[in-house]
Amino acid sequence: MKVKILRQKHPHAEPYWQCFDYDGDRNASVAAVLDNINYRDDITDSDGNPTERISWECSCLQGMCGGCAMVINKMPVLACDTFVKDLKGDTITIEPLHKFPVICDLVVDRGIIQENLKKIDAFIGKYHQGPEKDHELEYRIGRCLKCGLCLEACPNYVKGEDFFGPLFANDSYFVASRSDGDKATIKKNYNDHFAKGCSKSLACMRVCPVNIPTLASMAKMNRGIRDHYD
Ligand code: SF4
Ligand code: FES
Repeated sequence: MKVKILRQKHPHAEPYWQCFDYDGDRNASVAAVLDNINYRDDITDSDGNPTERISWECSCLQGMCGGCAMVINKMPVLACDTFVKDLKGDTITIEPLHKFPVICDLVVDRGIIQENLKKIDAFIGKYHQGPEKDHELEYRIGRCLKCGLCLEACPNYVKGEDFFGPLFANDSYFVASRSDGDKATIKKNYNDHFAKGCSKSLACMRVCPVNIPTLASMAKMNRGIRDHYD
């Protein structure tokens, strides 16, 4: 089968498509396909032209670090959790996430996620135990990989704008629930940087690889906002 990859040599270079042949195991993950291509002694594209190894990020290869988030056959997914046998057709298309600046090939700069969280101080400093009934939800939210797949899928998240995206709703709830910080400020930031811009498409929840319950965070925060401003 063919593996068609959108490549880019450096942040300011023009992107270009390059095709590779793959005749390995169909039970393999797309991460393993990328390794298969990269580990060849002489890497050539489908036309036999020598080429450079493909840059992509991975750390865990088991859906736990979020590093391998990319767009495969038009879907924002983790490469290590996407399997060839589950993909339709004889061509796998692989692109970097579109909502982040490309550094090289499939490696993108997701620093904006942390930058946005820093801007509004969405971190827990001194904290308290929340009510026991909320622990399950907090635990599930705490599993967020910061992979950026929800931002890729969100129709309202646009690079550089004031809407920080779905993962921010989850962090806001987590911080509001646990932190001893100023609740009014946390809620105002949530309203300004998330609630006002969210159109409830819930595309974020469909692509999240660890099933973060963003809707539950939104419900908690929206109720909190009403309580605070009413
Ligand atoms: S909410 Fe899900 S999709 Fe979004 S960054 Fe966290 S783990 Fe990734
Ligand atoms: S390599 Fe860690 S999630 Fe895929």
